Amino acid sequence: MVKLIGINKINIAVFISGKGSNLKSLIEYSKNKKSTFKVDLVLSDKKAPGLKYAKRYNIDFSIINYSKKYKAEKFALKLLKKKKINLICFAGFMRIISNKFLKEFNGKILNIHPSLLPKYKGLNTHEKVIKNKENYSGCTVHLVNSRLDSGKIIMQKKVKVFRNDTPVSLKKRILQYEHKLYPKAISKFIANF
Ligand code: GRF
Repeated sequence: MVKLIGINKINIAVFISGKGSNLKSLIEYSKNKKSTFKVDLVLSDKKAPGLKYAKRYNIDFSIINYSKKYKAEKFALKLLKKKKINLICFAGFMRIISNKFLKEFNGKILNIHPSLLPKYKGLNTHEKVIKNKENYSGCTVHLVNSRLDSGKIIMQKKVKVFRNDTPVSLKKRILQYEHKLYPKAISKFIANF
């Protein structure tokens, strides 16, 4: 186990495809002295709006062309090695990675998903939760494995679904909890590095 004192922070790379509100919360959390990780690289598969946070906080970022997945992953791995990244955190990253890539970071890729896994894997979770009249939903931080949203669960937060919730209102509320859960789960995970 690596003793995390002072400057010995774990370098993380955040992969995004969208708005990047989780990226923002991770960066802001990591600015705290007590944080055991540092966001050192942001990778995206497109010109994602969330890249503005990498720019704002002066963090290295790169847009990777995923039209050829093999090439894209090879390039990503090169950047990750160059920056000595110890942990990858997917935050709204909309690509399925190859087993080869997964092996390179075996056990060291996390994802955040807006449901109480193992329920509601995949897309349109909030629509499905409301359609099924669930009383609770939530968010989950889990390890990435070769199956969609199926890796070991690190932490979850249960969130009440209100009777008048729409997919939009539920998404908005759960996202607030995601922003708190993800940094906590990363800290817990790397405490065992
Ligand atoms: C979040 O709801 C996350 O759980 C899911 O994608 C969304 C990303 O939102 N995987 P943002 O880009 O972090 O705002």
